[in-house]
Amino acid sequence: MENKNDRQLLSFLYRSLIFLMSYFVLLIVCGLLYLSFGDVIKDWMKPTPQVEVKRNIAKYDNEDNDKIEHGIHLASGLIAAKGFEIVKANCTACHSAKLITQNRATKEGWEAMIEWMQATQGLWDLGKNEPIILDYLATNYAPEEVGRRANLEEVAYYMLDLSD
Ligand code: HEC
Repeated sequence: MENKNDRQLLSFLYRSLIFLMSYFVLLIVCGLLYLSFGDVIKDWMKPTPQVEVKRNIAKYDNEDNDKIEHGIHLASGLIAAKGFEIVKANCTACHSAKLITQNRATKEGWEAMIEWMQATQGLWDLGKNEPIILDYLATNYAPEEVGRRANLEEVAYYMLDLSD
């Protein structure tokens, strides 16, 4: 009887030992797996980042758009003089104000350009704003007098004396 109990006890201890060892082996395997694939697993667990859609809406009618410095409306480059608002409202709808600021003409010249745009480019009838617009353009974007000097006439040529 004693012998049998001893064997049972031994067998129990033996099996417990095997169990504990398998347990440790399992722990070590898990640890090794975690060490080698931890980053991959962490990546899996991460929630998918929400993509933030930022809309880049051009801001109209903000402070900068109204800024005037040294008499120039910064956003359009137009001279901020009498009639400027009407010109900005009517003349920057289709193209940049640069077409205006880089041009110079007399009142008749500006009128011709407006008529050309009305005839061929779909510019609307400017109504009672037309004289205001023409005054603004002819005053602020008039042909510049200061330009090239006049051509020389009857130039007296002479020979350089190189004898000395
Ligand atoms: C309905 C659209 C429209 C409006 C509004 C408009 N334009 Fe134009 N304008 C045009 C087009 C189109 C052109 C030709 C652009 C090009 O050649 O790239 C043009 C050209 C011009 C040019 C260049 C002409 C040249 O001979 O080079 C000037 C200056 C100009 N516009 C001034 C004005 C002024 C001043 C106003 C306001 C009264 C105005 N535009 C309003 C359509 C318009």
